[in-house]
This record gives sequence, structure tokens and C-alpha cells, in this order.
Amino acid sequence: MTQPHSMFEPARAPREERRQRVLMCAPDDFDVRYVINPWMEHQIGRTARTLAREQWQTLRALVAKSAEVELVTPAAGLPDMVFTANAGFVLGSTAVVSRFRAEERRPEEPLFRAFFEARGFRVAAWPEHVPFEGAGDALIDRGADVVWCGHGMRSAEEAPAALERIVSRRVIGLRLIDPRFYHLDTCFCPLAGGWLMFYPPAFDAASRAAIEAIVPREKRIEIDEADAMRFACNAVDLDGGLALNDASPQLQRRLRAAGFAPVVTPLSEFMKAGGAAKCLTLKLSED
Ligand code: ARG
Repeated sequence: MTQPHSMFEPARAPREERRQRVLMCAPDDFDVRYVINPWMEHQIGRTARTLAREQWQTLRALVAKSAEVELVTPAAGLPDMVFTANAGFVLGSTAVVSRFRAEERRPEEPLFRAFFEARGFRVAAWPEHVPFEGAGDALIDRGADVVWCGHGMRSAEEAPAALERIVSRRVIGLRLIDPRFYHLDTCFCPLAGGWLMFYPPAFDAASRAAIEAIVPREKRIEIDEADAMRFACNAVDLDGGLALNDASPQLQRRLRAAGFAPVVTPLSEFMKAGGAAKCLTLKLSED
């Protein structure tokens, strides 16, 4: 790929290029108030409000260097709404609104639906009985013409096929087997130029084989458990700049060698809820 640029050196971003649009939600009512993933255990009421806001603002400023940040209004009583990756899945002018597995997050659905409708997206019909958690589990490959869809933890096993019926693109299901990596975006990150950063042990053997069949060996960046636990895969890729919670020096070198510019932006407070950089964003401009 070409030199990483605009996220961190905005002056070099070509002005004519259509800016990406990214959805975020301010952490006004963010906290851990229930436990729906292992990261949230023993964290109820333990997030530091001011620090969370500072971390979120820093991420927002970073994203704003290379994208238009759009905001959805946070609702009181919905502490996880800040994780807009779970608003839904967007491709072109179509949006699929999430159908959350956890009752606690289901009240977010109409709010995200209203946002997509207000922005002119066609909101696709989704089968009510099939949990699906949007861009937390459905990720567009940046090399091959496929969408990857994680299932087995949050999104149901039927989700990949249901998604394929809506988007005119091949959807490949990947079974998640480690509860710490309960959304696909916690352990799998397709990157520009067809690169893929991922943590192989989070997947069953058939899923690993499916990944290897699509992504060439030289484009696969396999990370170790320590980096996976730092949510290195939960990275926001904007024009080669990679915003992530943390990554080892070795992984950062590896990413740089592949043409990316990792930028560590600590998100400790959101990690307590089981989310990091990518979870806090949703790309609205996807073709
Ligand atoms: N506490 C949230 C949940 O368990 C975190 C969501 C993180 N989002 C993501 N895209 N991985 O639903």
C-alpha cells in the first residue's frame, strides 16, 4: 500500500478525496452496569468518568483528522451505546440494524434505527429471532470481495446467511470459540490492501481454514495472546493510520513494515466494558 498519511499528517491528505464518515456516541452515560462479557466481570461501577471522557475525546480527535465524525445522541440508561460498532452493519446505502442478544442492549435498536433513517439509509429487514450485532461481528474485507461474519458468541449461527441475503456480497461465517473475544472485531481486523491482523486461537479450525483460503499467507498478521488481550485487533484503520488501545513494540514494527502507522490511544475505561477503539466507531461510508 501507499505511505500511511492523513490520520496523523492531515496536511498530506488529498483535498479532493471524499472524506470517510464515522459514527461515534459520546460516553455521557457510559459505565459498566451489568455483565454480558467476561471483561465486565468485577467492573460494575468502576469506570472513571472523567478519564473515560478524555480517552474518548482523544480518539474522536484522532479519527477527525481523516474522517467526518457524526454523532448519535446518547441515551440515559444505555451505558453501552457508546459502542457504535454495534449500531448495525453498513454497506453502500443499506444499513442492517443490530438485533442484540442481551436484553440490556435491545433498547439501543430503535435509537440506531432512527439515526440510520434520518441519515437516509435504507434499513433492511432482519429476522427478529436471529441475534446480530452489526459491525462488531460483520467486517468488510479490504482485499477480497467478501464480508466476514463472526458468530457463536453474540451473533447467531444463522446471521452470516441472513446477512448474505441482504448485501450482494459473499458473507463468510467465522465461529468464535473464546468468550474473551466475543465479537469478531475483538480478534480480527481486515486492513487496507487486503492485510489481515488476527488472533488465530479465537477461531475454530474450519474458520481458520476459511481465513487461510482467502487471505494469502504474506498478508496475514497473526498476533499473540498478549497483544490480543490488549485489543490490538480492535483498531480503527483510516488511511493507513491505525488507532488502537495498545500493541507491543514487535507488533507495531510488524504493522509499520506492512505500511501502517499504529497510534496507541489508551482506552482503559472502555476495556472494562470489553471494548476499545474500533468498537467505539462505525464507518458510515462503505462501498
Ligand atoms: N459491553 C459491550 C457489550 O458487551 C461492549 C461492546 C464492544 N463492541 C464491539 N464492537 N466489540 O456488548
